[in-house]
Amino acid sequence: MSKPRLEGKIALITGAVSGIGEEAVRLFVENGAFVVAADVQDDLGHQVVASIGSHRATYRHCDVRDEKEVEETVNFTLEKYGKLDILFSNAGIIGPLTGILELDIQGFDNTMATNVRGVAATIKHAARAWWRKTFAVPSYAQPALHLLWVEPHRMHTQFRSMH
Ligand SMILES: NC(=O)c1ccc[n+]([C@@H]2O[C@H](COP(=O)([O-])OP(=O)(O)OC[C@H]3O[C@@H](n4cnc5c(N)ncnc54)[C@H](O)[C@@H]3O)[C@@H](O)[C@H]2O)c1
Repeated sequence: MSKPRLEGKIALITGAVSGIGEEAVRLFVENGAFVVAADVQDDLGHQVVASIGSHRATYRHCDVRDEKEVEETVNFTLEKYGKLDILFSNAGIIGPLTGILELDIQGFDNTMATNVRGVAATIKHAARAWWRKTFAVPSYAQPALHLLWVEPHRMHTQFRSMH
């Protein structure tokens, strides 16, 4: 029998307790992944995870509009599983469906905060985790890294802003 495609992979899925997100959690687990299912519907989240098996999927409250909650959710994943292989930034809402004349600006802001800022924040913190893992530098080598990478980059940016 062939190996499941996601065997041993650790996935974080947002908007994970209904619709496409829920199906993705189930599919990822069926294919061998361990999943952190993040959403704002806590009761439903616990039910979904219980129906899958809490040894394969974990529910985590995370409102993607709140960057702190996003960061904490990524950190939770890293603490629980030691790594993050896959991010499915799926949380989203349809938002108000009106014509421009009736546009509800608060509803529009909420849609942007969820669908745009939320996705950006989620990718940012997952990418930071990947960056830290890829470029984990032992403390004795940090001054060298600073000289070779951080400092030239800072000088380059300063130079560009002067010209
Ligand atoms: N279903 C479609 O035909 C379709 C088409 C195009 C795009 N999409 C997008 O795909 C994604 C999933 O769609 P769906 O049909 O499964 O929707 P859905 O409403 O069934 O699921 C969305 C999930 O996101 C969660 N969510 C909403 N706001 C959140 C927030 N601030 N923080 C965390 N979780 C939040 C909800 O609780 C819900 O569980 C959405 O981003 C949607 O916009 C769906």
